[in-house]
Amino acid sequence: MNHAIILAAGKGSRMKTDTPKCAVELFKKPMVEYIVDALDKIEIDKKICVVGHKSEVIEGILGDRVEYAYQDVQLGTADAVKRAISLICGDGYSLILPGDTPLIDDEILAGITRYHKESKNDFSIGTIYLDNPTGFGRIIRDGTGNIASIVEEVDATNIEKDIKEVNTGIYCIENKMLIETLHLIRCNNNKSEYYLTDLVKLLASKAKVGSYLIKDTYKVMGINDLYSLSLVEESLKRVINKKHMINGVTIVNPDTVMISPDVKIESGAIIYQGSIIMGKSYIAKGCHIGPYSDIMNSIIEENSICRQSVVYDSIIKCNATVGPFAHLRMNSIVGENDRIGNFVEIKKSTLGTKTNVAHLTYIGDAICGDEVNFGCGTVTVNYDGKNKFKTKIGNRVFIGCNSNLIAPINIGSDVYIAAGSTINQDLIDEDFAIARVRQIVKHNYSNKYGYKKSKL
Ligand code: UD1
Ligand code: MG
Repeated sequence: MNHAIILAAGKGSRMKTDTPKCAVELFKKPMVEYIVDALDKIEIDKKICVVGHKSEVIEGILGDRVEYAYQDVQLGTADAVKRAISLICGDGYSLILPGDTPLIDDEILAGITRYHKESKNDFSIGTIYLDNPTGFGRIIRDGTGNIASIVEEVDATNIEKDIKEVNTGIYCIENKMLIETLHLIRCNNNKSEYYLTDLVKLLASKAKVGSYLIKDTYKVMGINDLYSLSLVEESLKRVINKKHMINGVTIVNPDTVMISPDVKIESGAIIYQGSIIMGKSYIAKGCHIGPYSDIMNSIIEENSICRQSVVYDSIIKCNATVGPFAHLRMNSIVGENDRIGNFVEIKKSTLGTKTNVAHLTYIGDAICGDEVNFGCGTVTVNYDGKNKFKTKIGNRVFIGCNSNLIAPINIGSDVYIAAGSTINQDLIDEDFAIARVRQIVKHNYSNKYGYKKSKL
């Protein structure tokens, strides 16, 4: 059987975060999830993830997409692999991957396994060349150019530190060879850890060991601290933005725009500066996004505009205008040709077509029809301090400014609600409702009341 073993038990002390390192997010997605996504695209019989420090966090992210091996005390990368040995069965190979190298993609994984098989290697090591190799294990070659060992930064001599070919921590190894050799690794080094890299020394003389050079270095830069995270994020941002621009998406001031790898954007869309588009979002042609919009797991259909707004887990249908300063969340759907203006929040609600919510309005847990006009300051009062209730609104309803619709409530079609009303009884089709105290006017009374006009 061919296996993948992801090493994700480490605390990541150099990150200085509460979150275990492999769960730290890159473009709002945990590092380790990228690796499993890449593994899903290649043929592999079994995926094993070694967890340890705050294992429940990694398990929460990956669920049943992998099998788990547990390393309670983090004694080094070789010890981590040892924990997975009982899950390895039969002939075949194991792809061993560090959980802190999120941009390993299916191309690299397929590349190293193909190389491993074609070269009939026992052990293949993914390497890269770096101008600044600080922090990485250096590849030591013998007089004939074969790999003799890997030396970690903390154990390296000054001459070894100058070597620019480094270990990516990505390996492909025959299962039999791995099981036979792993227990021979000792921890006699400056970190007193069991280094997986010591496999090289142990195997070099008796097995076929080779290296696979990876060209896209940014994809295999292990992330050990928040600075290296930002460098990888920066490289990824540039590659992604370039891909979209080449595909016909206009990105204004691309240095300021962050689009995560799973986002799809049709040519003809315009993304303005400062926008963040994450998760599994989809932006159709003719859309104008931003400046400064924050979109996550949302679909924006053709020719819609979303300026300076936050849109999470929602859909904006064709030709709609959202923002500036609107907030859509939790499976909200804005209908075709709708207009959502400033300081409007829409939560878990669906709007029909040609509906206007132009300013200062909260719509929560509501289903609303077509051509409805929400006056400025309308509130669906969906929460009584204990439970949430639903609001239903028909078509062509006019809701005057500053109205409260106290849920649960049903409002029919062609209803007119006067401004300033607090509606707590259902209304049927064509009703007119006014629910506010009558105005009292006392002519020439303001002086008597004691009101002094300003002298200015
Ligand atoms: C490791 C390699 C180094 C390589 C670099 C590439 C070793 C000894 N060194 O160094 O040669 O250049 O990766 O990025 O392997 N982990 C465990 N349990 C442990 C220790 C680590 O699961 O006891 C996991 C970590 O969570 C991490 C991965 O293994 O995902 C690599 O560990 P890390 O401490 O980051 O190793 P590096 O110092 O980066
Ligand atoms: Mg690392």
